[in-house]
Amino acid sequence: MTMGNTFSESNLEVLIDARRIASRIRELGEQISSDYRGRTPHLVGVLTGAWVFMADLVRNLSVEVTVDFLGIQSYLASTTSSGEVKITKDLDASIAGRDVLVVEDILDTGRTFQYLQGVLSAHQPKSVKLVTLLDKAARRVVPVQADYVGFPIPDVFVVGYGLDYNQQFRRLPEVRILPSIAST
Ligand code: IMP
Ligand code: MG
Repeated sequence: MTMGNTFSESNLEVLIDARRIASRIRELGEQISSDYRGRTPHLVGVLTGAWVFMADLVRNLSVEVTVDFLGIQSYLASTTSSGEVKITKDLDASIAGRDVLVVEDILDTGRTFQYLQGVLSAHQPKSVKLVTLLDKAARRVVPVQADYVGFPIPDVFVVGYGLDYNQQFRRLPEVRILPSIAST
């Protein structure tokens, strides 16, 4: 199948290797388990990028959790944010009264999470927090912050470990930098 790609993975510099990701997720798992001790957080993974992270995160938690997914599209075949967010898959279960922990792959402009906060809080959850594997704080245009951050990263476009460029590179076990892409 032709994807029309011009990038070969051998040209993509590794930013965070698989061992560092695994060890940081163990730490996040301990922190989150301790913060939610005695409760059953409801993890809401933001599709599609966050599914790999979420799968590893849940296996590092020692509290019981329930999980659901929300489909969001904010980047359409592009590395720049259109500022528009569209729900492509709604939640399956009610979040009323639940301790919701949103699981994101990357926090960039913050528009997606700001939008999600509005959508989720309309359904009366008990609490809403955010865990993101990656945080590109330099790119923020709306004032949102994650409660748990795996790795702060510079203003570069990254792929791998679930993150894609036009559906490419999600399968890579590490986070790599896509060169020559102006992440604006
Ligand atoms: P935000 O609304 O700008 O915070 O966008 C966050 C979403 O944009 C993420 O969940 C990703 O899907 C996508 N995104 C932002 N930066 C990158 C990147 O460097 N690589 C891949 N996807 C990205
Ligand atoms: Mg995303």
